[in-house]
Amino acid sequence: MIDVERARRETPGCEHVIHLNNAGSALPPQTVLDAVVGHLELEALIGGYEAHEQNDQATERVYTAAAELLGCRADEIAFCSSATRAWDMAFYGFPLERGDRILTAVAEYASNFIAFIQVARQKGIEVVAVPNDERGQVSVEGLAELVDERVKLIAITHVPTNGGLVNPAAKIGAIAREAEIPYLLDACQSAGQMPLDVDALGCDMLSLTGRKYLRGPRGTGLLYVRSNLIERIEPPLLDMHAADWIEPDRYRLRADARRFEEWEQNYAAKVGLGVAIDYALELGIDEIWERVHELGERLRAQLGELDGVNVRDLGETRCGIVTFDATGAGAGEIKAALARERINVTVAPQSATLLDTRERDLPELVRASVHYYNTEAELDRLVDCVKIAARC
Ligand SMILES: Cc1ncc(COP(=O)(O)O)c(C=O)c1O
Repeated sequence: MIDVERARRETPGCEHVIHLNNAGSALPPQTVLDAVVGHLELEALIGGYEAHEQNDQATERVYTAAAELLGCRADEIAFCSSATRAWDMAFYGFPLERGDRILTAVAEYASNFIAFIQVARQKGIEVVAVPNDERGQVSVEGLAELVDERVKLIAITHVPTNGGLVNPAAKIGAIAREAEIPYLLDACQSAGQMPLDVDALGCDMLSLTGRKYLRGPRGTGLLYVRSNLIERIEPPLLDMHAADWIEPDRYRLRADARRFEEWEQNYAAKVGLGVAIDYALELGIDEIWERVHELGERLRAQLGELDGVNVRDLGETRCGIVTFDATGAGAGEIKAALARERINVTVAPQSATLLDTRERDLPELVRASVHYYNTEAELDRLVDCVKIAARC
């Protein structure tokens, strides 16, 4: 069980706000803050390169910590500046040709879909959104029916940006494996709130961000690429960290996943992300998931009882992200009213998941995302304030 009191004591932000925007950017624990500030101070005192050398173990920890988190090898991990860049490095480098097909989800994230459209235009590939099942998650049967020799990539978002839905990632992985189709999982919103094991998920590539449920610094992301696939993916952007310049007209790519990285990195943030992952591992991902899941369901039930409030989360399994709209007030108005009470939530814009928005005719949604350090009393306070803001 999570020691909520302790987690709150170790999170300075808990004294200032009711933070229910954990899927935006969670409050970091003090240890993460100390690690980031400590590294920045060291850079200022002895020089940036020298600080990197001196703190080498701490900067390297992110790879081994991520390997523990995801059940993979450290050399299958690349450190990136965001989940989007991590995903891009795999996607844009993935070999695709005219006539190839990508299977994706209805609730796919805008940045991923924009990349699909661009590559579809440039290379003449086809992008197909697998229909949802009756629960509103990717239909596993629908996916299986769409698999044929044209499908060269399955790219799915685990937890979409606009709701609590958890797509059946492992069942999708089983189909991908059987059909031997590479599988790219956007785990940006699931990482840190639920267990993720790349073998159990059956994914070959996975992207995540540091600042959300992992409680790491902003401007951090990770990419996992299965070792047998690394050599097949030529990163769309290269530098002298990703490759060695070996002849005037030749370079040699690194053999490990760091070929997807940039030479220049935010080392303070990198150190902080390693500490954030360690903090989560120490608490226990299963324990984190149990509490986040429970709080998410509690909040959904409470909001569902309010007149004029529509909770919009779909799926068989739902996570710590709770989305709703209200007949009495718009999402922006509710967010502003809550902010006046020092309650942080965000608004899920319609364009962030355009296919899903259109399919379900969704308005802008209020997105309240709980973490294990939130208390039941904080959820009660949110519900009371929504009641007033939305004139329920
Ligand atoms: C599903 C999903 N994928 C990717 C991202 C992008 O993450 P980042 O901002 O780290 O690039 C987000 C951010 O909200 C997201 O919700």
